[in-house]
Amino acid sequence: MSEQQIDAATLERLLRTRFSARKFQPRAVPRATLDQILQLAQRTPSWCNIQPWQVVLVSGEPLNELRERMWQHARGGAPASPDFPFPPNYTASHRDRRKVCGLQLYQSLGIGKEDRAAAAEQSLENFRMFGAPHLALIFVDDYLGFYGALDCGLYAMTLMLAAHSLGVDTIAQASLASYPELVRQQLELPPSRKLVCGIAIGYAEREHPINNYRTERAAVVEAVQFVE
Ligand SMILES: Cc1cc2nc3c(=O)[nH]c(=O)nc-3n(C[C@H](O)[C@H](O)[C@H](O)COP(=O)(O)O)c2cc1C
Repeated sequence: MSEQQIDAATLERLLRTRFSARKFQPRAVPRATLDQILQLAQRTPSWCNIQPWQVVLVSGEPLNELRERMWQHARGGAPASPDFPFPPNYTASHRDRRKVCGLQLYQSLGIGKEDRAAAAEQSLENFRMFGAPHLALIFVDDYLGFYGALDCGLYAMTLMLAAHSLGVDTIAQASLASYPELVRQQLELPPSRKLVCGIAIGYAEREHPINNYRTERAAVVEAVQFVE
């Protein structure tokens, strides 16, 4: 195989085998591995190469404190107040795909459609970061607007793929952007620093059913129109 074929096969394998982990072992990722992931994530392209992502990597006791505070907050029914508004609703194919996504998750745990209490309880696990030992919180400066957040999205994917290539599991979590004030307060960050999302990082519990279903993707024709 040529070097190019090896690269293509490796990238394809990484893209096809990455998945969002929703139950983590408590075991920490070695600092050298975390550093390697963060080094690779720095290779993310950004508009004018401004590299606007500001990342806070929270672990140990500070993470446990954040988990507890966010979980209590969410459990108490606090309404989400994200810096970047969440979609008010989903329509057409978006709604359909979202539904399948939820169904797969809850079916993996044997939670029936009618069991809203069990679904809500599982959903709250987001705010415990699914037990992950590390959390990367991605912030961006307010004034950069949409394109700053877009660059952060690219960063998130680079980080997740880099982690996967090193045997480390992740999940992107927009849910963790629900209470940015609480997060800024604990991390002592200024209000100008806007929270895009979190990425939980660690080692998945491989045998757990929640980590053992895989999501599908629409065919290319549903996403791409060729104009020639
Ligand atoms: C920006 C972003 C935010 C997400 N937020 C959440 C979240 O808050 N909770 C969750 O369980 N999954 C979240 N996910 C994971 C998606 O549900 C998941 O990526 C999607 O269903 C595809 O599955 P896969 O990652 O296993 O391929 C998020 C994904 C992205 C990219």
